[in-house]
Amino acid sequence: MMSSIKPLIAGNWKMNGLRSDMDEFAAMAQGYSSELAGKADAMICPPFTLIAALANHPDRGALAVGAQDCHTASSGAHTGDISGGMIADCGAKAVIVGHSERRQDHGETDALVAEKAKAVWDAGLTAIICVGETEAERRGGTTLAAVEQQLSGSVPQGATAQNSVIAYEPVWAIGTGLTPGIDDVAEVHGFMRSFLANNLGGEGTAMRLLYGGSVKPGNAAELMAVPHVNGALVGGASLKATDFLGIIRAVS
Ligand code: 13P
Repeated sequence: MMSSIKPLIAGNWKMNGLRSDMDEFAAMAQGYSSELAGKADAMICPPFTLIAALANHPDRGALAVGAQDCHTASSGAHTGDISGGMIADCGAKAVIVGHSERRQDHGETDALVAEKAKAVWDAGLTAIICVGETEAERRGGTTLAAVEQQLSGSVPQGATAQNSVIAYEPVWAIGTGLTPGIDDVAEVHGFMRSFLANNLGGEGTAMRLLYGGSVKPGNAAELMAVPHVNGALVGGASLKATDFLGIIRAVS
């Protein structure tokens, strides 16, 4: 049976993007809005420095804009940090929390990620909560245990299909050109769906589950056809309009 969940293709620009890249964004936005918006929702999460410019870009059309992180507090003495409310104020609609690069580079724990997700909700935005096993966990056969631990620790009670999206990104597949086998993606996504349905009921059944890690135009169709894969979180291939549009086009 076809899933009734509208897919979401979200691009994570990571620490890439200057004002000179706004033309690339405009090309993505025009291509998406004119021919692809009916197929899937789409979003670009640029660095903080570009959120306002992209969210208010005259050619943005239906292409949404998100952020890559936020602080747990709504305001206050936190030098260098950005709150969910500030992100909302710039016109963004979602915030990625718990990306493995933040878990690794900044020591973010599941508990912190859960607090960030709640801060995102408090700002009226959608939290894109990331989970995924390391290469050692994959080799050691503990992938599902690792994902279960991250889901139970990082996805707060109160998560709904509206306020949250879950992104499964195997750490070893990010930026490497490697992807798990289709059966492996199906196993993890099926597991996540059962876990979320058991814990959140109908909201867990309807929540979007994205796959991320080396998604390209050439492998997107196969990955997006896996049961309980409701879209993609795309890094490198979201920097170029032709690649990003190619991935959206591959959604069936
Ligand atoms: P790549 O698509 O570059 O592998 O990055 C995936 C990712 O980390 C998206 O958040």
